[in-house]
Amino acid sequence: MHPHPIQKKNIILGVTGSIAAYKAADLASKLAQSGAIVNVVLTEAAAKFIAPLTFQSVTGEPAYSDADLWGADAHVLHIGLARKADALLIAPATANTLAKLAHGGADDLLSLTALALGTGADTPLLMIAPAMDAGMYTHAATQENVEILKRRGVVFVGPEAGHLASGLVAKGRMSEPADILGQLRYQFSRRGPLLGKHIVVTAGPTQEIIDPVRYLSNRSTGKQGYALAQAALDAGADVTLISGPVHLSPPGGATCVHVRTALEMEKAILSACQTADALIMAAAVADFRPAQAADQKIKKLGGAPALPLSANPDILAAVNQQRATTQKPNVVVGFAAETQSIIANAEDKMRRKGMNFIVANDVSAHDAGFAVETNRVTLLHTAGRKEELPLMSKAEIAAEVIERVITLLNPQENA
Ligand code: C5P
Repeated sequence: MHPHPIQKKNIILGVTGSIAAYKAADLASKLAQSGAIVNVVLTEAAAKFIAPLTFQSVTGEPAYSDADLWGADAHVLHIGLARKADALLIAPATANTLAKLAHGGADDLLSLTALALGTGADTPLLMIAPAMDAGMYTHAATQENVEILKRRGVVFVGPEAGHLASGLVAKGRMSEPADILGQLRYQFSRRGPLLGKHIVVTAGPTQEIIDPVRYLSNRSTGKQGYALAQAALDAGADVTLISGPVHLSPPGGATCVHVRTALEMEKAILSACQTADALIMAAAVADFRPAQAADQKIKKLGGAPALPLSANPDILAAVNQQRATTQKPNVVVGFAAETQSIIANAEDKMRRKGMNFIVANDVSAHDAGFAVETNRVTLLHTAGRKEELPLMSKAEIAAEVIERVITLLNPQENA
């Protein structure tokens, strides 16, 4: 199984003097929990907002401030940090720090370290999450500095629009730590075995409209599908995530297409599949929809109405029809959520729907299936091979499924 792309990576987290500095502690903690080795470098202004000790406590590694510039190791500290770094992530980054980085200023430990990273193809990743008041961010000077840094290959995350410390509601907020982590994870995954492959993943339920306030749906939360999208990204793929309505944030780097109904989902899938190497169909597509969606809310005065249903199209059948002319996607993986005769039903589905393999799960178990973190699945392959996987987290199951997709897409390497 592929390790988390950030695992064992040396990350220098630069923290500068913005009120968003307090959120950097959460970011440092999340990085450490993902297995990174995190050294924090605070500017003098950042150390007024938050203490180095906070970072040291959440990362278990030394956190440096400008006081260390004049210590015993001062003459090599910034060189040593730059030399071991896999990435320098500056979050939050003030306008002043952007200006210094753009123009080669080096008057504190952080800007010295950034300059010591060097420039060129082999330099470590430099990622920046700006945070400042809106007028400062849109100022021509800042915008030009951002452009200079982007031209040099610096990756920017945010800033986002929202409430700012000045009271303004505008673009200038530091991106959320989880989103910054997601973007960093994405950058580190770009060398995996699925590099250059396009994987389409579907997730979540569909909602079938009864009237403007009501719909038919199912208990799918999208967790397994989102975990599959993340695992495909971790393996280096370009991922299109086609998602029904769920309460999850798409993984960093995925192109997310939000849909509501089965008909919308079918359209999005057929379009994305034109260039797809693999389709992983984890969505719980509603089998039926109300034959006619009412324009106005249905009143209860007339008693319970009859609700005639129409069958939704079988999306995989449409994919297979398109596949006959486009030869895309090369690999199709399906899911079967069953409450009885699991294996027999799943095998039948796999054959009928032209899948390379199917992931069968028993949704009646309390520790597997809908809305829980774990799943217990059996993988059924076309040649009749059956793999029973033990109870695992949905992320682990996703990694197992992606391993099989890698094998199917790279047969020569596995011969
Ligand atoms: O709902 P069912 O268990 O039959 O779904 C089996 C597989 O077929 C799943 O991968 C699901 O996403 C897909 N499916 C589909 N079109 C439908 C219903 C399900 O492609 N209308």
